Amino acid sequence: MAVDIDWDLLRVKAIEVMHHAYAPYSDFQVGVAGLVDDGRVVVGCNVENASYGLGLCAECGMVSQLHSTGGGTLVAVWCVDRNGDSLMPCGRCRQLLWENGGPSMLLQTPSGVKTMTEVLPDAFGVEDLTTR
Ligand code: THU
Repeated sequence: MAVDIDWDLLRVKAIEVMHHAYAPYSDFQVGVAGLVDDGRVVVGCNVENASYGLGLCAECGMVSQLHSTGGGTLVAVWCVDRNGDSLMPCGRCRQLLWENGGPSMLLQTPSGVKTMTEVLPDAFGVEDLTTR
């Protein structure tokens, strides 16, 4: 299903959810919004923990909402910092986005819109699980 990408809406939603971030340890609030192939918009914010290594990136929350509200494939994603500026997802989260958006998913980055193939070249994916 082809959906129109409303980038302005994604940025607004990402900023909105960023204000709900729980980041008392890093004081680095992150919000992310993603358009799903059925037109839904899913969001997430980072949630840290006193046991520092257990902190959840904003993308984890967004992917959880993706599945808990019916699944589907991410078409376009915008991740922002506390200033509303585009934020590059960390390496682990690029892998999450690859799993749930695939190679053609579009990502808003500090240097413009890029495909997942551009931001995670030679990605590991389900096709690599040849011994299953
Ligand atoms: N963070 C995210 O939520 N997403 C990213 O892609 C990069 C990093 C969070 C994790 C931590 O709570 C804070 O930003 C500082 O690293």
